[in-house]
Amino acid sequence: MKKITIGIFVLLLCAHAHAQKFEGIAETPPLGWNSWNTFATNINEQLVKDIADKFVELGLKDAGYEYIVLDDGWMAKERDVNGNLIADPVKFPSGMKALADYIHSKGLKFGLYNCAGSKTCAGYPGSRGYEYQDARSYASWDVDYLKYDWCNTDKLNAEGAYITMRDAIKTAGRPMVFSICEWGDNKPWEWAKDVGHSWRVTGDIINCWDCEIGHGSWSSWGVWKIINMRNAIRKAAGPGHWNDYDMMEVGNGMTDAEDRSHFAMWSMLASPLIMGNDLRVASPQTIKTLTNKEVISVNQDNLGIQGFRFSNENKIEIWLKPLNKNSWAMCFVNMNDKPIEINFDWKKHNIGDDVNERNLDTKKDTYTIEDLFNHRNLGSTSKNLKGTIGVHDVLMIKLELK
Ligand code: GLA
Repeated sequence: MKKITIGIFVLLLCAHAHAQKFEGIAETPPLGWNSWNTFATNINEQLVKDIADKFVELGLKDAGYEYIVLDDGWMAKERDVNGNLIADPVKFPSGMKALADYIHSKGLKFGLYNCAGSKTCAGYPGSRGYEYQDARSYASWDVDYLKYDWCNTDKLNAEGAYITMRDAIKTAGRPMVFSICEWGDNKPWEWAKDVGHSWRVTGDIINCWDCEIGHGSWSSWGVWKIINMRNAIRKAAGPGHWNDYDMMEVGNGMTDAEDRSHFAMWSMLASPLIMGNDLRVASPQTIKTLTNKEVISVNQDNLGIQGFRFSNENKIEIWLKPLNKNSWAMCFVNMNDKPIEINFDWKKHNIGDDVNERNLDTKKDTYTIEDLFNHRNLGSTSKNLKGTIGVHDVLMIKLELK
């Protein structure tokens, strides 16, 4: 009897040991690039190598970007005779291990996409019923990141399906960031903290400021539609588990001002910063925005607190994010179609983050003000903050205790 009890105890321990995600690999939001927004399934080996080269040449690697993630369309249409996934032999003739080696040789990390359903959203072989086998393939190719989608899942239970893949990754033994992508349909912010390292919170982004583009049963969403779609989820974010506001559309056709605001907001939201543009043809202005180290450091702040909307009066969005050392990041975004003057009186506002019990007490304390996009010192909170903000542009500042 005693033996049986001990046996059961050991079994439970083993099961528990598997039932965990890899810890310590996404303590700040992942930074990288994903192929989908620009290339959809038109991806290939040379393109991905060129992107890796651009990470280094353009200073993106220096700025902290790390992951190069191939989205849907990297696989052959069928598994091999043993049920293994294989890379599309025309698009990726050297195979995934060789591509991973190339990316690793640049000091970067490699990500792949698959789906919890029977097929991916673009109709390639999905992982349903092959989770452990696929995780072993990824591990054997030295994959560092898995984005896991939610098409063709019938009546699958989302939490269960993502736990199965998490356990498959853990069992395969290679640490991989596990990026959950079920569009927020099953409220992953309520259950995914111990399952994945990030979870998409909405359907797919598109390159516009505040539009919705319908496709029949689903829609693509502009930047502000995505920001406004979910309420009260910020408390779910923190080191190792992030709300993912989708791959960015910076450099994909919005104005430079809109790109700046988009990038600033993804940083305030502590979202993964995953570029979605063609880095081979990116403009100097796009690269300047994407490599702004001060803005990135707001996203990467080690407290991992997601920012919040403070107010939205006269179509000026004001957002705040507590940072370490009692500093704060603050954004004023001009939603108007004309430039706007601001005149912010620090003595008239009580700024507090109730969830994290932090106060920015500008009545009592004085903070210095740094303009993060224009690299200017704007004095301190002892005087009103004044300035002009262009159409859909952002004034993003860092406040530090004097
Ligand atoms: C879904 C995801 C997208 C992308 C495509 C690929 O729509 O949300 O991010 O991965 O599938 O088919």
